Amino acid sequence: MKEKLLKLKEEALAKITDAAQPDSLEAARVEYLGKKGELTQILRGMGEVAPEDRPAMGQMVNAVREAVEAAIELRRRELSAKALEAKLGKEKVDVTIPGEPVVTGRRHPLNIAVGEMLDVFTKMGFDVVEGPEVEYDYYNFEALNIPKDHPARDTQDTFYFTDNVLLRTQTSSVQIHVMENQKPPIRVVAPGRVYRSDAVDATHSPLFHQMEGLVVDKGITMADLKGTLENLARMLYGEEAVCRFRPHHFPFTEPSAEMDVQCFACRGEGCRLCKGEGWIELLGAGMVHPKVLRTCGIDPDVYSGFAFGIGLERVTMRRYNIDDLRLLFENDLRFLGQF
Ligand code: DAH
Repeated sequence: MKEKLLKLKEEALAKITDAAQPDSLEAARVEYLGKKGELTQILRGMGEVAPEDRPAMGQMVNAVREAVEAAIELRRRELSAKALEAKLGKEKVDVTIPGEPVVTGRRHPLNIAVGEMLDVFTKMGFDVVEGPEVEYDYYNFEALNIPKDHPARDTQDTFYFTDNVLLRTQTSSVQIHVMENQKPPIRVVAPGRVYRSDAVDATHSPLFHQMEGLVVDKGITMADLKGTLENLARMLYGEEAVCRFRPHHFPFTEPSAEMDVQCFACRGEGCRLCKGEGWIELLGAGMVHPKVLRTCGIDPDVYSGFAFGIGLERVTMRRYNIDDLRLLFENDLRFLGQF
């Protein structure tokens, strides 16, 4: 009996130390200490042992049970410590690993330039407005004093949807919307997309951007126009920017002018940037034609106004020394990342 017990103890302790999982440890516990476990069976069989041997036997069985229980408890602690260690190992964060660079977006150069211009105009008290890109012939041409047979239509290769509906070729169409909806004093700028059916090259694109300006009030003169636009030129090209106004013709202004800035690369000497001219054309402008005011229900005997239109790609390209218009539309991140 004693030998059987010792063998049982050895067997049990070996199983317990070998148990690699809580499951197999529990199986070993049930096998030896459970209701039908081997040690329990032996205890139950004590009745058959001779009475004088019982105390010694009882002590031995209890000693074995205690040893097995202690081994189980020890192994249980070992296993849970191992499990915790494994979990912590998996969750470990190495704070010394360098971070992964995050690619951040940049503003498009055109938007940077437009933002700066809008800043100047809003400081001068202008509101920023928008108009539709799909337009009626009336707003893009007719109301701007460009009737159907007018030669100015030939210079603006228009995308037509129908005889009457088109993609606007100029933001000047917004002037008409504003004057229809608002009585003077009016002071607005309207940036936006315009469309002309031009083939793509270094200086042309069927889609480009303009910013229109319109001021209508009592007593507005050419001097207001010049002061406003010289202010813009100084902001874009520095305090010492020199401007000149050349007479020009636009159907919706009278008189009309184009404004040039003296080339800031050669200071008027003539260079590659200004193509030897010494001057760089910046915008078209003029005093709003009385016919246009009247068409919009504004009395030209009471009110006068000035208007201007700026090509935004041109301004942006000059500002950042970009020599190919296509770069502004290709959205190559290597190009855009430079601004
Ligand atoms: N709309 C003209 C164009 O696209 C530019 C322009 C000229 C706008 C004179 C104006 C202006 O408002 O007064 O060529």
